[in-house]
Amino acid sequence: MFHVPCSMKLLITGGAGFIGSNFIHHILKTYPDYEIINLDALTYAGNLENLKEFESEARYTFIKGDICNKELVAELVSKVDIVVHFAAESHVDRSILDSEAFVRTNVIGTHTLLEAARQAGNKRFHHVSTDEVFGSLGADEPPFSEITPYDPRSPYSASKAGSDHLVRAYFHTHGLPVTISNCSNNYGPYHFPEKLIPLIITNLIEAKKIPIYGDGMQVRDWLYVQDHCRAIDIIIHKGKIGETYCIGGNSEKPNLEIAKTILDLLHKDESMLEHVEDRKGHDKRYAINFAKIKNELGWEPQVTFEEGLLKTVTWFLENEAWWKSVKSGEYEKYYLKQYQK
Ligand code: NAD
Ligand code: TYD
Repeated sequence: MFHVPCSMKLLITGGAGFIGSNFIHHILKTYPDYEIINLDALTYAGNLENLKEFESEARYTFIKGDICNKELVAELVSKVDIVVHFAAESHVDRSILDSEAFVRTNVIGTHTLLEAARQAGNKRFHHVSTDEVFGSLGADEPPFSEITPYDPRSPYSASKAGSDHLVRAYFHTHGLPVTISNCSNNYGPYHFPEKLIPLIITNLIEAKKIPIYGDGMQVRDWLYVQDHCRAIDIIIHKGKIGETYCIGGNSEKPNLEIAKTILDLLHKDESMLEHVEDRKGHDKRYAINFAKIKNELGWEPQVTFEEGLLKTVTWFLENEAWWKSVKSGEYEKYYLKQYQK
């Protein structure tokens, strides 16, 4: 196990994105002595409004920069105890349209970070990955676990699989103290409204239809983002070096069922559903067996899908300014206003 100093300094990559920003909220609120450097390139998916409340916090530093920038990454990695790596291109549909940025950030960016961690004397490294690296399940197949063979099928999942292999290679070859987590689909506050759940909620509030790909019977295992953040917290403190942990939400749902549940919550009817052309190579089902992290580290999801979805719908209703600024593109000016005065 990694010896955890009582006050840790973390380099969070991709901390202005959906899960990374929730993780920063979690760490700064849970550990009063921890310090965070957030390295984020502020692509379309990065939004500093997610972290507004920490702007004047001495324990929190934001650096706008690219994880492929070797000099910057080396300098930042040398200043911290651990790297928690979230930064990625994360949207499957975008990877189908153009996958170059996926290979660059997800593969080369991860390699740049690993190499910096090695050169800084083998720094502790946690890599956040996805269940999509395992491919697609049939209806009756058992859920993915840590021993499922890799079988990525989209440019996104292939680039994440490449990054996972590099992380494992740095453990085996260089003894880099790594852990990896492969989690299922997250949802919750600050979720970028190009992804299914926030897209449904925000479209319905704006009285726009919901695009359902194909028959809508594809299944995902939904994980409330704060449960995911707790799991990463436990792994970085108690995880066994060199190990992979699968993190799931215990909530397998077809897309159509999710859409109908949100229609009910927002008092809309099924005329708002619009079946559109299916995604190319659409993975049918993802599901996670999280027995390993439950048995070895004592983690399991605490938020049921019903509770999590209600919390999420409520958050989007109460934070209309946040998602309207994202949908209009206004949020991209926030950085300029805050940091380039
Ligand atoms: P996101 O797209 O919301 O955020 C990604 C962040 O990375 C953004 O802030 C972006 O600006 C930053 N970034 C992108 N390229 C960068 C670069 N070259 N240098 C520095 N920063 C860069 O993603 P997310 O949904 O928060 O996902 C975070 C991680 O979790 C990713 O690694 C993703 O693969 C993984 N994951 C996500 C889910 C999910 O449901 N969202 C599920 C499983 C795994
Ligand atoms: P998404 O949120 O993009 O996550 P992922 O592809 O990583 O699982 O999509 C979740 C599911 O919802 C997936 O089966 C694709 C489907 N989907 C739609 O039916 N309509 C949409 O507009 C989007 C964005 C996704």
